[in-house]
Amino acid sequence: MRRRAKRPLRGGGALCLVAAFLLWGLGSALCPCPDPDLCAPISGARDFEVFVFDVGGKTWKSYDWSQITTVAVFGKYDSELLCYAHSKGSRIVLNGDISLKKIIDPVARADWIKEKIDLAKKQYMDGINIDIEQRVKKRSAKYDALTALVKETTETFHKEIPGSQVTFDVAWSPECIDHRCYNYSAIATCCDFLFVMSYDEQNQMWSHCVAAANAPYKQTLSGYDRYIRMGINPKKLVMGVPWYGYDYTCLSLSEAHVCSLAKIPFQWFSCPRASALQVPYRTIMKQENGSLSGILWDEENKAPYLEYQDANGTFHQVWFDNPKSISLKAAYVKEHGLRGIGMWNANCLDYSGGSVPQEQTEAMWEALRPK
Ligand SMILES: *[C@@H]1O[C@H](CO)[C@@H](O)[C@H](O)[C@H]1NC(C)=O
Ligand SMILES: *[C@@H]1O[C@H](CO)[C@@H](O)[C@H](O)[C@H]1NC(C)=O
Ligand SMILES: *[C@@H]1O[C@H](CO)[C@@H](O)[C@H](O)[C@H]1NC(C)=O
Repeated sequence: MRRRAKRPLRGGGALCLVAAFLLWGLGSALCPCPDPDLCAPISGARDFEVFVFDVGGKTWKSYDWSQITTVAVFGKYDSELLCYAHSKGSRIVLNGDISLKKIIDPVARADWIKEKIDLAKKQYMDGINIDIEQRVKKRSAKYDALTALVKETTETFHKEIPGSQVTFDVAWSPECIDHRCYNYSAIATCCDFLFVMSYDEQNQMWSHCVAAANAPYKQTLSGYDRYIRMGINPKKLVMGVPWYGYDYTCLSLSEAHVCSLAKIPFQWFSCPRASALQVPYRTIMKQENGSLSGILWDEENKAPYLEYQDANGTFHQVWFDNPKSISLKAAYVKEHGLRGIGMWNANCLDYSGGSVPQEQTEAMWEALRPK
């Protein structure tokens, strides 16, 4: 499936040298991989997309590469990761973010796209994941500029890097979540697919300040129902699940497991977030033994949680996702024929290699497989 590398070798040695310098001048670096074929872009699609966000470091060495189709690099560029991903037939893509105020100007948009294309070519990347989580009002200048940005980025990448992939990250529901009103159907049409961030679903919890699931089952799936109902092809949707949870500091914790949160007067929006900290799955798993409760299961939201008391005697409730809650959501992916599944982020698991962590980590990767 991989295209072979185009080699700039045609004439004699001198010509070759000139070509190499020219390429260098254009921003193309020499292939960093031991096998130069590994710098060729990945083309062709696999049936089921497993889209992985990586935030840096070397934990990628322990990922389940039998499943991964795309790695979106949100950490530092790592040429070793590039070569490895390509050796597994997996795409590796840039991340892209830009102030929407700037790109209302078509020239600024074109400049940004050129900068990203040049970078992608220089680093032998297979596309870009556009992660713009900015507020946009419906039918504003930014609204149309964003759609244009995705359209133009996709056209340029597909033309300049054959087989490349352009994706766009959207909130768990298309209903102006966190004031992000985008032209979802147009964006879905013009890029390869949307990565739906089915997490942080409590951002809009205004009325009742109590700790709750990061990605409640029914609410999560209702988001996909809405995307599909607005005419978006399920093959344009990749389900994003969280490999992290929220640790809430409770003002009080009742016997019925209600963790009440401090209210911030005059600032509805920040009531739950002010007392919640994001924690990776590996940290939560280490808290189980020292917890008051062990891992509990909330049947209403089909999510696990646990409770503990910190050194000051303050109660905490931690809501997260585990293989059980993820498998339940992953079943929807198969039933509704979505393009695939992915997570924010792959680094969140324990790759240190002890037998208990290893089992927990394998179970999380396994939960992604359509059953
Ligand atoms: C969304 O974009 C499409 C295609 O560009 C356009 O026809 C449609 O009017 C837009 N929707 C809104 C609400 O502006
Ligand atoms: C929790 O305790 C059990 C039983 O003592 C032990 O087998 C397990 O390894 C512990 N887990 C962690 C993550 O420390
Ligand atoms: C305990 O309280 C002190 C003082 O308010 C604070 O600085 C510290 O971070 C708290 N410790 C924990 C574990 O929350």
